[in-house]
Amino acid sequence: MCQTGGMSEQPVNDAASETSNAASATAETNPYGGAAASGGPKRVRTRHFQNAKREGIKITGLTSYDMLTARIFDEAGIDFLLVGDSAGNNVFGYETTLPVKVDDLIPLTRAVAGAVKRAFVVADMPFGSYENGPEEALHTAVRFMKETGAHAVKLEGGERSHKQIRRIVGAGIPVMAHIGYTPQSEHGLGGHVIQGRGEGVKQLLADARSVQEAGAFAVVLEMVPADAARQVTELLEIPTISVGAGPHTDGQLLVWTDWAGLTIGRVPKFVKQYADLAGILSQAAREWREDVESGSYPNAEHSYE
Ligand code: KIV
Repeated sequence: MCQTGGMSEQPVNDAASETSNAASATAETNPYGGAAASGGPKRVRTRHFQNAKREGIKITGLTSYDMLTARIFDEAGIDFLLVGDSAGNNVFGYETTLPVKVDDLIPLTRAVAGAVKRAFVVADMPFGSYENGPEEALHTAVRFMKETGAHAVKLEGGERSHKQIRRIVGAGIPVMAHIGYTPQSEHGLGGHVIQGRGEGVKQLLADARSVQEAGAFAVVLEMVPADAARQVTELLEIPTISVGAGPHTDGQLLVWTDWAGLTIGRVPKFVKQYADLAGILSQAAREWREDVESGSYPNAEHSYE
């Protein structure tokens, strides 16, 4: 998307003042190249999501939980970074996202938000931080906005989270909704079950309508059939972001450790792996261990006089 005209490169109707025309200057300081080096919005805002949908430009998102990956993904031109409660599986080593707390995600979100220049940073609201009602939801959202520098929050649920979304949006905080398979409800849903199949599409469409009416600026569709996601995308004015919902949505999001081949164990069918980081790190660790054991590291080159 970076090279061929993604969200990042399109002139944005109402944001001309934010459109970088200093591409060459940026490129000189950008070791990774990417969209940030080729114009487009200096800082992605919610209106750029809306514009992208209107203009048929695909939106890209990855999860990130630390400043190193955040910086790399930002400079590669990824439009938004989600500090997901998938940190439960990918940082903290839990089986599910359920044990993750707001206090766990605050420092991770601060690290990501502090590292980006262009990407829009979304803070994920963990299980137990919004279900009690709109006031609890607003309290959590305010904490993320005040304490991390995130640009928006995300929470799970369609009709059941309508009031929470409305309350948060009413306080001036952008909300990314999340419907279809919602991992925080794993046990209620009976496991990792695809949502929106057959008659289930009616509930999916009702959830989609509900989060749009509540004021969400975008909605994640997780693990739903491609045709159901197409119907939602055609129905809604706000952009849809697929995580395992096929190609007919307005954008795509993946958990970075799955996408980069770092995840240990099963990776969902919808993930395409773009690297083998586990293999690279494992090989490097073995070589280093052998060098230390054989005495070939460190040598004079790595020692002080
Ligand atoms: O926590 C997360 O990474 C998510 C995505 C899978 C949508 O919620």
